[in-house]
Amino acid sequence: MAGSPLRGRSFLSVSDLNNRELLDLLQFASDLKRRFQAGIRDRPHEGKVLGLLFQKPSLRTRTSFEVAMAHLGGTSVYLSPAEVGMGQREAVDDVAMVVSRYFDVISARVFEHSIVTELAEHASVPVINALSDGEHPCQALADLLTVQEWRGPLRGQSLAFIGDGNNVAVSLALACVKTGMEFRIAAPEGYWMPEDAVQAIEAEAELGGGSLVQVTDPREAATGVNVLYTDVWTSMGQEAERERRLQAFAGYIIDQELVDLGDEAIVLHCLPAHYGEEITRDVSRGPRSAIWDQAENRMHAQRALLAQVL
Ligand code: CP
Ligand code: NVA
Repeated sequence: MAGSPLRGRSFLSVSDLNNRELLDLLQFASDLKRRFQAGIRDRPHEGKVLGLLFQKPSLRTRTSFEVAMAHLGGTSVYLSPAEVGMGQREAVDDVAMVVSRYFDVISARVFEHSIVTELAEHASVPVINALSDGEHPCQALADLLTVQEWRGPLRGQSLAFIGDGNNVAVSLALACVKTGMEFRIAAPEGYWMPEDAVQAIEAEAELGGGSLVQVTDPREAATGVNVLYTDVWTSMGQEAERERRLQAFAGYIIDQELVDLGDEAIVLHCLPAHYGEEITRDVSRGPRSAIWDQAENRMHAQRALLAQVL
């Protein structure tokens, strides 16, 4: 991928890609997935090493990055939260400068978004945001890939996010409006997306032709929609707020009744799920659920991303 426009670039936010780059990356991911499913195994990055620096637990992100890197011919080194102590045992800029000497690309899962920006500032290799408190841009790539597979071209589609205006919601909103989709969010007052994120989403919507709608009623958001999406009410790092959040979000659940309000809506969830809170188990396993393809697509989307930045 010597000619890739993303070569050598970090990916910390969906805003780091313009809409052409985002659509091209999704197309590339879809092509790679098709080749992979046809049994074609290219190994263009033999000898390259991905470093995973994680401050929080993970099933999908860690595994899909490691497997994607293996498919590309490279290897990975996983550094758990306890080992590195980023920002505590060792300064973030020191960590960045040291690991840049070992790795060809870094994937970092952090608490404050500023940690991943500081890593990228001081690293001499590309840094990929594998989730921060502010964004989860790799998740948004897999999400749009899944919407495209199930529903066709993105422009003009509508998506309703039922739940907290969290990292997943922000990245997904940016990606949707950038590609000409309508992004609706239904959350209780006080749990909408942060104001700076809303401003960024509105600016992207102007450029991409999409739109943002914020409401408090899940039924209003779900009516006539093409895609229903949810995530946990309490994100990693917010555990002390769990009881308060359980009360605030009661009723913000994707159940069959909500699915029936949509326009043959497909259902997505980034996982892990808390069944009986934000989604019912039945819906997650029902005929409208694209959740398991979505989880698989993390691997295909990240394989494309790694291939382009390397
Ligand atoms: N969706 C997602 O990022 O899952 P993990 O936290 O398991 O990586
Ligand atoms: N919003 C969730 C997403 C987990 C993939 C969290 O940050 O914990």
